[in-house]
Amino acid sequence: MLFENMKTAIEDFFYKKVIRNILMLSNFGRRSVLGEAASGYNFDYMYENKPHGFLGIGYLIDKMLLNLPAVQATRLRRVNIVKIVSNEIENHRLQGKTTKILDLACGAGRYLSDIVKIFSKNKIEIVGIDYDNKSLKLAKNLSEKEGISKEQIRFVKGNVFRLSILKKLGKRVDWRPNIVIASGLTVYIDDDEVINMLKQIYEGLAHDGCILIDSQESNPSRKLMEKVLKTKQGAWILYYRSPAQWRHWLHKCGFRDIVISCDQWKMYNLCSARK
Ligand SMILES: C[S@@+](CC[C@H](N)C(=O)[O-])C[C@H]1O[C@@H](n2cnc3c(N)ncnc32)[C@H](O)[C@@H]1O
Repeated sequence: MLFENMKTAIEDFFYKKVIRNILMLSNFGRRSVLGEAASGYNFDYMYENKPHGFLGIGYLIDKMLLNLPAVQATRLRRVNIVKIVSNEIENHRLQGKTTKILDLACGAGRYLSDIVKIFSKNKIEIVGIDYDNKSLKLAKNLSEKEGISKEQIRFVKGNVFRLSILKKLGKRVDWRPNIVIASGLTVYIDDDEVINMLKQIYEGLAHDGCILIDSQESNPSRKLMEKVLKTKQGAWILYYRSPAQWRHWLHKCGFRDIVISCDQWKMYNLCSARK
């Protein structure tokens, strides 16, 4: 017991005093330590993958952080989201359907811009919702820079839970999404909230529509995240869930054709299913 306590105290000192101060020299590390770890713009920094930092050392630390397995896995998640959605868009094209995507907690929406760039000639309408001004501003800048119009992607400020956006969706007849994406959202909410969200997405989705949700099974940087990195709510502690759990929930909520993939780091699960 005494040995365990000593080990924890030494580890805490190492993470909180040594590692934390080293991270403060890099842009990505500094933001993540000071409470912006889970922000949409911090995730975009991982996608963009361009190191910055204080003097050469800060740059090197930034580069190292951007190469952590968990960050590589996050970049791969972007690629895989684009792949899954692209497949849906191709199928919509065959059926002469407009693709209507709702992204819940879209952050800076980089994978949404990726999609529009690939399918610039297709009929695509995207609505991205997030409650963070800085991420939305970046999202708008990114899509404007790519020449993407507001008819193709609209970024809207809102709390995906408090504003009952999901509830309203099911009642709206004029715009009903045939793809709903929630990436980087469910790891922050408890089981009851997840189930409630799945039910509302099911109601709001068009017939035959697709849900695409990410989840984390484990995280190679878990200790670093929990001991040093911070979100606006405090320590960066996530809900980790198994693919079997997701399959069960999706099935229970009425979804079919459930497909769940896992990356090589056993970190992200991408779960897609059809209404
Ligand atoms: C980890 S980032 C993920 C961003 C993006 N979806 C991605 O996968 O890269 C989480 C995002 O969720 C947003 N967010 C968290 N809870 C939210 C809520 N209740 N309503 C709207 N946005 C929320 C945050 O502002 C942040 O931009």
